[in-house]
Amino acid sequence: MATKKLLLLAGDGIGPEAMAEVKKLIAAMNEKGAGFAIDEGLVGGCAYDAHGQAISEEDMTKALAADAVLFGAVGGPKWDSVPYEVRPEAGLLRLRKDMELFANLRPAICYPALAASSSLKQEVVEGLDILIVRELTGGVYFGEPKQIIDLGNGQKRGIDTQVYDTFEIERISGVAFELARTRKNHVTSMEKRNVMKSGVLWNEVVTATHKAKYADVKLDHMLADAGGMQLVRWPKQFDVIVTDNLFGDMLSDVAAMLTGSLGMLPSASLGAPDAKTGKRKALYEPVHGSAPDIAGKGIANPIAMIASFAMCLRYSFSMVAEADRLEAAIAAVLDDGLRTKDIMSEGKTEVGTTAMGDAIIAKFLA
Ligand code: IPM
Ligand code: MG
Repeated sequence: MATKKLLLLAGDGIGPEAMAEVKKLIAAMNEKGAGFAIDEGLVGGCAYDAHGQAISEEDMTKALAADAVLFGAVGGPKWDSVPYEVRPEAGLLRLRKDMELFANLRPAICYPALAASSSLKQEVVEGLDILIVRELTGGVYFGEPKQIIDLGNGQKRGIDTQVYDTFEIERISGVAFELARTRKNHVTSMEKRNVMKSGVLWNEVVTATHKAKYADVKLDHMLADAGGMQLVRWPKQFDVIVTDNLFGDMLSDVAAMLTGSLGMLPSASLGAPDAKTGKRKALYEPVHGSAPDIAGKGIANPIAMIASFAMCLRYSFSMVAEADRLEAAIAAVLDDGLRTKDIMSEGKTEVGTTAMGDAIIAKFLA
C-alpha cells in the first residue's frame, strides 16, 4: 500500500492536546497496517516564537507536499500585539491561499445525545444535519486593496475589498451541487445581491452553473442576513448552504452552535482535483479555536479534531468505511454518557481530553 503522507500542525492553545488524541489513533491504525507517514510542523503563535513567522517556508513546503494536513488551532492573548502580517491567523490564511483550498466544508450535525445541550429547543435541532460550503480563498479576506490609509486631516480610512470572479463562484457552487447529490439534493445559496455587486454576480453564476450542469438538484437563493435568521429559526430546512468567505465564516459559527458545542465540529478545506492524479490538496481542522482559557488543563474536547480526521479519511484517502466507523465511535461514546466539560450535563460522566480520546479509539478498534 502506498504511504499516506500526513503533516500535523497542532498550533497553539488546545490544538496540541486535541492533536495528541489523533496521534494515538493514527498510531493504532498504523499498527494494523494503515500506512500513515507522519511529519510535524509549527503554525501560528508557536511558529512566530520559533522563527518570527506564522508559518516557516520549510513547513509551507511540507504542507504543499503532503497528501493531507491536519491542523489544530492558532492564536492566543500572548500574540495579541505581534505585527498584523505575522499574527497567528496569518499562518492559516497562507496555508489556505498557497494550497488553493477554495472549498471549505463545515458540517453541522446534532448528535442525538447532545440535542438537549443546544441553546435552541430540542425539536428545532434534533437530527440536524446540514453542510455549509464556504468559499475560502477569495472575497473580502483576500481582495486588494486591503489597507489603512491616512487621509491627512486627522482621519484614517480602512479598506477591504470584496471581489469574486466567475470561475471562483462556478467552482465553489460545483462542489456544493456535487455534495448535495450525495445528501438530500438541495442547495441554498446565500449572498447580499440587494446591496453588493459581488452578490449580484454570485447569484447569476450559481444560477447559470445550476442550469448548465446540476438542474437535478433543488436550488434556492436567500439573502445572507435572512439566511442567518432562518438558521436559528428552523435550521432543518437546509441541506447544503453555499456562500462566500465572509458570510460563510459567520454563518458556520452560528450553525456550529446549534449543535450544542463548538467543540464538536470538524471541517475540511479542499483544493481542485489535480489534472493528472485526481487528488485534491486538503487541510482538516476543527471549527473551534485555540481556547487559551482552558489550554493545558486537559479538559479540552478532542471530538472536533478526531471528527476532522474522519473527514480526512473520507475525502483524502477514500477510507469511507473507516470514516463511518470513527463517526459511529464518537456517537457511541456520547451515547454511553461520556462528556467533556463543554458538553457536560446532569447525570453524565465528565472526562478529560485523554479519557475521551481513549474511549473513542477503543470503540473504533472494537
Ligand atoms: C475560521 C476562523 C478563521 C477565519 C480565522 C482564524 C482566520 O475564524 O476558520 O472560521 O476567519 O476564516
Ligand atoms: Mg470563523
